[in-house]
Amino acid sequence: MKHLTVAISIFITSISSTMAQQNRLSEQAGTVKSVKQENNTYHFELTNGFAQVTPYNATTIRVRVNKSKFTGDQSYAIDDLTAKGKFTSKEEDRDNLRLYTDSLMVVVHKTPFRVSFYNKAKQLINADEDALGVSWYGNNVSCYKKLHKDEKFIGLGEKTGGINRRGNFYTHWNADVPGYALNADPLYSSIPFFIGIHDKMVYGIFFDNSHRTYFNFGGGADEELYHFGAEDGEMNYYFFGGNTVTDIIKDYTSLTGRTTMPPLWSLGFQQSRWGYDSQEQLLDIAKTFRDKKMPADVIVSDINYMDNYKIFTWNPNNFSNVKQMNAQMRRMGFDMVTIIDPGIKIEKGYKAYEEGVAKDLFAKYPNGRMYVGHVWPGRCHFPDFVKPETRKWWGESFKDSYVNNGVRGFWNDMNEPAAWGREFPNLIEFGEGKDKATLYKVKNAYGSLMSKATYEGTRALMNGQRPFVLTRAAYAGIQKYSAQWTGDNVSSDEHMLLGFRLLNSMGVSGVPYVGMDIGGFMGNPSPELFVRWMSLGVYSPLFRNHTHFGYNYREPWLFGENNTPIIRGILEQRYQLLPYLYSSFYQAHVTGMPINRMLPIAYTHDDKVYQGKFENQFLFGDNILVAPVESNKQVAEVYLPGNTNWYRLSNDEIFKGGAATYVQAPLTDLPVFVKEGAVIPMQSVIQHTKEKGDGVLYLHVYKGSTPTSFTYYEDDGETYDYEKGSSYRRTISYDPEQQKVLFGAKQGNFSSKFKRVKLILHGFGKAGKDETSALNDGAFELSLN
Ligand code: GLC
Repeated sequence: MKHLTVAISIFITSISSTMAQQNRLSEQAGTVKSVKQENNTYHFELTNGFAQVTPYNATTIRVRVNKSKFTGDQSYAIDDLTAKGKFTSKEEDRDNLRLYTDSLMVVVHKTPFRVSFYNKAKQLINADEDALGVSWYGNNVSCYKKLHKDEKFIGLGEKTGGINRRGNFYTHWNADVPGYALNADPLYSSIPFFIGIHDKMVYGIFFDNSHRTYFNFGGGADEELYHFGAEDGEMNYYFFGGNTVTDIIKDYTSLTGRTTMPPLWSLGFQQSRWGYDSQEQLLDIAKTFRDKKMPADVIVSDINYMDNYKIFTWNPNNFSNVKQMNAQMRRMGFDMVTIIDPGIKIEKGYKAYEEGVAKDLFAKYPNGRMYVGHVWPGRCHFPDFVKPETRKWWGESFKDSYVNNGVRGFWNDMNEPAAWGREFPNLIEFGEGKDKATLYKVKNAYGSLMSKATYEGTRALMNGQRPFVLTRAAYAGIQKYSAQWTGDNVSSDEHMLLGFRLLNSMGVSGVPYVGMDIGGFMGNPSPELFVRWMSLGVYSPLFRNHTHFGYNYREPWLFGENNTPIIRGILEQRYQLLPYLYSSFYQAHVTGMPINRMLPIAYTHDDKVYQGKFENQFLFGDNILVAPVESNKQVAEVYLPGNTNWYRLSNDEIFKGGAATYVQAPLTDLPVFVKEGAVIPMQSVIQHTKEKGDGVLYLHVYKGSTPTSFTYYEDDGETYDYEKGSSYRRTISYDPEQQKVLFGAKQGNFSSKFKRVKLILHGFGKAGKDETSALNDGAFELSLN
C-alpha cells in the first residue's frame, strides 16, 4: 500500500512538473519580508528573491534584484564597484522605507516590493510600475516602470531611428551587420544606458547587464508603462537623479569612466581604404596629400597588409620594410594605423596560434575543445579576453610587428565577435574561476575586453606615447580605452544623416571619440555627397574616410577639379579648429561631456529639438551648432534654439534663437552657427599636427549680451605627461559689459605652442579687429574696443 502511495505521488509530481513546464508563467519579486542595513546598503529579503539598494553618491542609486542570494559582484563596464555614497536619513513605516540623500528620496514600497525616486521637492521622477515591477520568466528578468504622458527617451548608444526612443523597442546583442539598413537593430555595440525626460525633469538609468538586453519605451500597446530586461543575469541598474542631462552624463561617466586625452595626430584627417595593398601605395598616397596640399595625418592599413590575414604579421612581399616605410611616413608628418581582428588562424608554426594554444588562451566549448570559427584567414580560434593572461599576451603581441616598427594606431575590428555574419554558439566558454561565463554573457562585452587589452598593452609598450585605439564592437565604458566607429555604412544621404544621429547618441551615452566611414563604406558617393559628407566630417571627432574594396577610390582629390579646392578648404578648416576640438576633448576627459552633442543635452525641455526635421542637428563642443543637410539640397530649414543669437560661421549673418528658419546650404557652405558670446580658439592652416604653424592663437570672439567663459587646453598631444601636471589650461572669459576678453592665469606646467594671440571680432560692427598681443602666462585682458 505504502509503495503504491509513493508511486502515485511520484506520478502526480511528474505530471504536475511537466504541466508547470508547459504552462510556465512569469514570477514576481513579491513582498519585503525583512530589511537589513549594512555599510549603507539596504538588503531586502523578498518572498521571491533578494534586493539591494545602495547610494553611489547623492544622485546615483544602485538597485539590484535577484531570484537567489547575491554571490559576488561583477561588471564589464565599471572598474571599481565600491559605493562611496551615503543615505543621510531614513523613515520607515509598515508600507514604505524612505531613504534620503542630499538630492533624492528613494522610496521602497514593501507590499509588493517597488522602488520609486523623488527629487528634493518630492516630485516623482521615476517609479516601478505598480502591477509588475521586477519580474522573471525563467531566467529572463525585466523591470517595468511607469511611463509619463510626455516622457521622452534619449541614449542607448549606437541605435538607429529617431533621437527620441519613445514608442520603440531595441535589443542589445552586438552584431556584424555589413551595409546595415537605416532601421537595423541591433548594430555593433551595446550601451544599456538611457535618459528619461518628462515634466521638466530628467533621470538616467544604466542597466549593467551584458546579456542580451531589451528596452521597450512604450513600444507595447500600453501607454502607461515601459520596460527593460535581459535574457539572464541580475536586474542591476543605476539610477541617476541629477538635475540636468549634463549632470547625468557626469555621474554616468564617473561610474563607467572617461576618455584619456587622445593623441593629437589622431584628430587630424585619416585616409583609409580596404584594398591598399603595398607599402609603395601607402607612401604614394601620403606623398600625394603633401603634393596637393591637402592636410592629413593618418594613413590606415586594412587587412591587406597581413600575411594571409594573420594578425601580427606583414605580407613579406608587399610590405618588405615596414620600419622604413613608417620612418618615411613620419618624415612626411604621417602616422599609420593598422587593423587587427580577433580571429587567430589555425596554422602550425604561426606564432600567435602556437602561443595561444600552448598558454591556453582561446575560447572553448564546455568539453574543453577550442572553438573554431571562419573569418578572413580561414579557420580560426578566438582569444578568451575575459582571462587576464589572454589580455596580457594580446597586449604584448603588438611589440614586434607594430610598435617596434613605428605603428601607433590600432583598429580593432570584427569583435562582436564576428565570423562572417554567422552566429557563434552561445555556449562557448570564457574565463576561469569566478569569471567563468558563456558567450551569452560575454558577447556584448567581447569588443570592449579586446579594446582594453589593446589599449593597456600598447600603452605599456609605447614608452609613454599615447596609442590611438579604435573599435567597432563595444559595451558601456568603452570610452576608457578606445574610439568607436559605426561600422559598415552605405554611401547615401540617409546614411550620412543617420551617422550623425548615431554619433550624437553614442556621445550622450558616454562615448565622446566617435566617427563613421566618411563617404560611406559600401557604394560610390556622388561628388556632391562626398563633398557634403567631408564638410560634415570636420565636425566629427574621428574624421576618417574609408571604403570597401571594389568601390571607387576615395582619395579626396578624385572628385573633380572643381571640388578639389572645396575639399582642401574643408580639410584646412578642420586643422584650424583643432585648438577648439582639443579643448573640447579635455572637457570630455574631465566631465564626460561628449564632443558631438544632440540638442536635448543643452535644450532638454524644448520640444522642437526632438522633431524629425531638426533632430540631426547637434552642437560640436560648447558653442558650434551644425545642421547636417543632404547633398542634393541647396536650402535647409534649421532650428536655432535658446534665447541667444547665432552667427553663421561662414559670413557672420545673425539669427535670433528660438526660431526655425530657412538658410542657404550650397555644397560650399554647410549651415554652421556659433553661439553669441562664444570664444573659439583656432590656429593657422597646417598640413599635419606635427607642423608648428605660425605660432598665433586666433581667438574668434562673437559679440553677445551675457558673460561667457571657455576652458582652453593644450598639452604635448602625444604623451601621458599631462597626467603628471604637464598641461596648459586657462579660462578665457568674455565680458560684454566691459567689452573685454580676460585670460585667466595659466595653470599647469606646459608651455603653449602659441606665442601670440590675435583677436578676431564678430558682430562688433567692424570688419574684425586685428590685434595681436603676446600670449603671457599670467592673467591679462584685451579690450574689444
Ligand atoms: C569589416 C570592417 C571594415 C573593414 C573590413 C575588412 O567589414 O567593418 O571597416 O574594411 O572588415 O577588414
